This record gives sequence, C-alpha cells and structure tokens, in this order.
Amino acid sequence: MTSKNLSIRANRVIPGGVNSPVRAWNAVGGIPIHIERGSGSKLITADGQTLTDYCGSWGPLILGHAHPEVINAVKVAADNGLTFGATTELEIELAEFLCRQIPYFEKVRLVNSGTEATMTALRLAKGYTNRSKIVKFDGCYHGHSDSLLVSGGSGLLTGAIHLSEGISENIIKDTFAAPYNNLEAIESIFKNRGSEIAAIIIEPVAGNMGLVKPEDGFLAGLRRITEEYGALLIFDEVITGFRFGPTTYGTICNVTPDITCLGKIIGGGLPIGALGGQRKIMDKLSPLGNVYQAGTLSGNPIAVTAGITTLKILKSHNVYDRIKQNAQILEGLEGTEQFKNGLCTLAHLDGVFTLFFNENSISDLEDAKQCDTEKYSRFFHYMLSAGYYIPPSQFEVCFVSAVHTKQEIEGFANAVRGFF
Ligand SMILES: Cc1ncc(COP(=O)(O)O)c(C=O)c1O
Repeated sequence: MTSKNLSIRANRVIPGGVNSPVRAWNAVGGIPIHIERGSGSKLITADGQTLTDYCGSWGPLILGHAHPEVINAVKVAADNGLTFGATTELEIELAEFLCRQIPYFEKVRLVNSGTEATMTALRLAKGYTNRSKIVKFDGCYHGHSDSLLVSGGSGLLTGAIHLSEGISENIIKDTFAAPYNNLEAIESIFKNRGSEIAAIIIEPVAGNMGLVKPEDGFLAGLRRITEEYGALLIFDEVITGFRFGPTTYGTICNVTPDITCLGKIIGGGLPIGALGGQRKIMDKLSPLGNVYQAGTLSGNPIAVTAGITTLKILKSHNVYDRIKQNAQILEGLEGTEQFKNGLCTLAHLDGVFTLFFNENSISDLEDAKQCDTEKYSRFFHYMLSAGYYIPPSQFEVCFVSAVHTKQEIEGFANAVRGFF
C-alpha cells in the first residue's frame, strides 16, 4: 500500500493520522511518507523509495536502523518473556552502567519515556525542596506533561501553538519561562520569586527550536544561581545523553546538575526514560520517600536489553570520534557562496545540526522564530526528492549516526548546495 493510501486509512482511525503531531508534515505540506523498514542509515518507504535518514527516529538511533547486535539481543531477551512487573537483573545492569558512566549519578529510576522522566523529575524537585514553582526556557521541549508545555518547542513551535488547551491556570502560574541563553532574565526571576522556585529545567544543548548551543558560562551561571537560592538544577538530556560521548553533556561540559533526565539513546530504539542523581534526592522517590512514581512496564526487559546493548557498543567502538570526524564535512558548507547567498546558517555540534533559514546565528526562541519557514518547506521537499529524510520542521535537529559514511554526508552537503 502506498503512503497516500496508508495516510487515508490512518486519518480515518487516528487523530490527524499520526501518533505524534510532528509526524503529520503540517508545517511542510504534503502527505507524510510511511515507513516500511529501516536498515543502517537507510529508510525504505511504503512507496519503495530509499532515503538516507538524518532524523534517526528523533534521536534514539545513533547506531542506525536495525543494528544487528541490538536486534539479536532483543530477540534473545524476547524469548525469555516480555514483561514481569518485578525486578530483573537487566534493570540493575542498566542502572549500574549509567552510574558508572555519569560521575554524579548515585541512583537511577527507569521509566517509559522522556515525558515521564521530566514529569517525575519536577515532582521530585518540588517534593525535595517543598516549593511549587519551576523555571523553564522558551523553546525548550521536555515532553508533554502539563507544566512543561508552557512556552514549549518542538511540535508546539512547529504548529504555532503557544499553549496547549486543557492546562489549568494554576499550573501555568507555577511555571516561569525565560529566554534561552539569558542569565539576566533568570537572575531577575530568582530575585523576585527565588524562595518559591523548586527547580530550573533546561536542555543543556537545546534541540527543540532547532539546535541552539549554550553560550559560554550560561550553564555554570544557572548552577550558581540555583545553588544560591536553594533550588535544584535539572538537565533534560533526553536528546543529549550519550549523544556526544558515552556519558551526559553535563559531564562533558563540567556542570553538575542535581537531577538528569535521559531517554531516546538509552533505550536503543525502544520506549524508555530515566532520571538519576544523588542518593539524597533520588531516595525521596517512593517506596523510600513520599514522592510517588510508578509504571507497569518500567524497566521493561526488552527495552532495557536494547538500551544496554546500544550503550555498550557506544562505549567500546569509538563511535563518537567517527561521528565527529564525518560530521565535520558539513562545516565545509559554510564557506560556499551558495550557502552565504542562501541566507542560511548552520548550527552544528558534533553530528547534531540544523540548517536555519536565517542569515544570523540563533541563540534563543525569538531568533529562531525569524527563520524563513516557507523556504525550509521547499528545502525539505527538495531534500526528499534528492533521497534525504530530514525532520519535517525548521525547529528540530538532524542527527549524523555512527553508520553514516563520509560519502553519504558529502552527498548530503552536495544536495544542500544543489538546493541553493
Ligand atoms: C529534550 C526532550 N525532553 C523530553 C522529550 C520527551 O520524550 P518522549 O517523547 O520520549 O516522551 C523529548 C522528545 O523529543 C525531548 O526532545
């Protein structure tokens, strides 16, 4: 069945034909491709087209599609049973691995998604500090729990939804939003309301308004301010965890948060999330403490197996150096005349990148909103016809995986030049 026919079928029984809004291509127009299968860096669509994939299922697939070791491990685990609702050694192994790789992790709770991880992290911060307010940044996305949808990025930004309906006034009042990379704004919020604030939550490298890197001293400044006012610092590393090295971005940039949320890569392509940090905070979670959190499928043996297998490969195969080296090819784009004339900037960090259709670099949501999204739509469809799958929105990131070859990345860069 073609993507078009599948889309018609899907729209009859699934709202908007999709189970997550950005898959709908509303921002770029056209009928979303439906996927038949994936292998390495390639996606094979229901229409029989083969595409080189730079979306990577929005982050988890750092080893590409259907990595043979991951698939075999999952098959073996599945033969032993899919879920038990009781602890298995596999969960302990994953928690131990995370505590070894992340110097400031003493304990970890596994959940089923990034949304659950950030939602639980907030509840934990509020329970630990006995305060009710949180601070987040405009354009950061932390999943779809109520208080975190205020001024959110990703699909909200793409769909120009300032705030989802169905969120009560009280919840909105408890969330303060500030511009990314703006320490003065944070200082002023804390000066006025510091004693009520439980936590700042941030993507330490923002990926949900396109790629926006933290300016020098920004994350360290957040650490200093939160310490001064007795609030917690939460790093949402659902995208960045194990993306730039076999650890968190907090470890790499040497800023230690109180709670870290993980997801995507640590599940190797299956549903997972995690939050971790110091024992004294994590032990507030039930059953030791009174901050309640639970999950029928949490620590699911199949998801945990895919995660551990992925993380072990990442740690032992020198994957990161290869990704960084290969991804440097993209930076060659910046020098070219077509690129300069195209009024476009490349935001890039070690294989995570966004081509912003804006001649200036982007340091917060207001900058990102100035991009020419019409042009991005044309770019998206051009790249698709040239055989490349990128996110169907200006406000997302592309990922170079461990299985993209130099030739493939050169091909991608040439296609970008072709567009201009
Ligand atoms: C930074 C960040 N946090 C949290 C989430 C939510 O994760 P999930 O979609 O697994 O619920 C996402 C999803 O894209 C994300 O990018």
